[in-house]
Amino acid sequence: MAENKRPVKITETVLRDAHQSLIATRMTTEQMLPIIDKMDKVGYHAVECWGGATFDASLRFLKEDPWDRLRKLKAGFKNTKLQMLFRGQNILGYRPYADDVVEYFVQKSIANGIDIIRIFDCLNDLRNLQTAVTATNKEKGHAQVALSYTLGDAYTLEYWTEMAKKIEEMGANSICIKDMAGLLTPYKAEELVKSLKSATSLPIELHTHYTSGVASMTYMKAVEAGCDIIDTAMSPFALGTSQPATEVMAEAFKGTEMDPGFDQMLLKEIADYFRPMREEALKSGLMNPKVLGVDIQTLLYQVPGGMLSNMVSQLKEQNAEDKYMEVLEEIPRVRKDLGEPPLVTPSSQIVGTQAVFNVLMGERYKVATKETKDVLLGKYGQTVKPFNPEVIDKVLGEDKKNAITCRYADLLEPELHKIEEEMKQWKQQDEDVLSYALFPQVATEFFKYREAQQTKVDATVADTKNGAYPV
Ligand code: CO
Repeated sequence: MAENKRPVKITETVLRDAHQSLIATRMTTEQMLPIIDKMDKVGYHAVECWGGATFDASLRFLKEDPWDRLRKLKAGFKNTKLQMLFRGQNILGYRPYADDVVEYFVQKSIANGIDIIRIFDCLNDLRNLQTAVTATNKEKGHAQVALSYTLGDAYTLEYWTEMAKKIEEMGANSICIKDMAGLLTPYKAEELVKSLKSATSLPIELHTHYTSGVASMTYMKAVEAGCDIIDTAMSPFALGTSQPATEVMAEAFKGTEMDPGFDQMLLKEIADYFRPMREEALKSGLMNPKVLGVDIQTLLYQVPGGMLSNMVSQLKEQNAEDKYMEVLEEIPRVRKDLGEPPLVTPSSQIVGTQAVFNVLMGERYKVATKETKDVLLGKYGQTVKPFNPEVIDKVLGEDKKNAITCRYADLLEPELHKIEEEMKQWKQQDEDVLSYALFPQVATEFFKYREAQQTKVDATVADTKNGAYPV
């Protein structure tokens, strides 16, 4: 065994990104809790377990309170840091919020158990990250800022390096290269990591997906080049559109100065716990074998895996599955029209949906979504390239005079008070205000469900007391 000179740190994603990527974020708290005691003993740098789509999915599909999940995870993970994914000014939602909502969300996330907040912006507009970073610093959390990695003329090594310097200046504690589509190839990763390491003193973490099949090689080159932390998932929820497998990466570095020192027997026990969940998901169709293979289209069209499955279901609903290739080819064109942003929530949904409309309507931008208009109005922030002026004219018309170049949140009045007024009949905890702020309809449905459940329990208790039922 070589001496551990610079062991690579590992962030486990099975409780967040892995099940978001493979089974539409359907893992329940109940499925997570029995294994966290073992996971807590592995020696992970962190467990990513909250944020991203988990918040929406908990409320919408699982009828679970996401805050309650966080508190339960915190109670179980006594030695391991908890990490969440945060969409900058869009928080965990799909539109920009006022600063008071962002600040309050950060405060409550940390108060309920989050240690590390990974903050990204779908346009890489750093102005959209500052409020969340400052709030995280203030609450004594670890603010990690993520570069939303993508390809295109504008995205040069200099671009990323300059961005990393600014991220350090803005008060971040670490930097993540967030490669949501699996576009980063091994030698590019080596070059990028070296460049970021020389430009900043912050720890560098690499997050990628297996979609295009190169991810584990990319990790290896990145770690050799000095990358401090990598994101992996336990094998039953690894590969495909998810991350490289934890056991495999731990084994790959074994006996080297980068050995994370994990116990493979312990990892096996954890994998054994998750494996039946995978088999069940395959049987029920929740996990589509399609997402498990290598999809080289992701490199050709630079479309993240999750976006592809979204697009397929949109086309299915319209009985237009035969338009798949046309839409796939339209996506890079729409992306160019909209200033060539990275494709990550919510820009991926905005570009994808607009591409579907452009193809189905038989005329480009005959119908533009509200979100497309908002992008062109500058509400989501500044893109690296200018918008296509013809598209601006067609979509915005006279309205183009209302386009902004400032940070959109600077124009927003504080929202919290108004939101709380709107939902106060449902409020059982402070955090409910934030659930409602992000997803008003979905949260209201959840609050109704929660009340109905509570009434049911109360009624049972009362009936038992009254002796209405035989015990
Ligand atoms: Co990811």
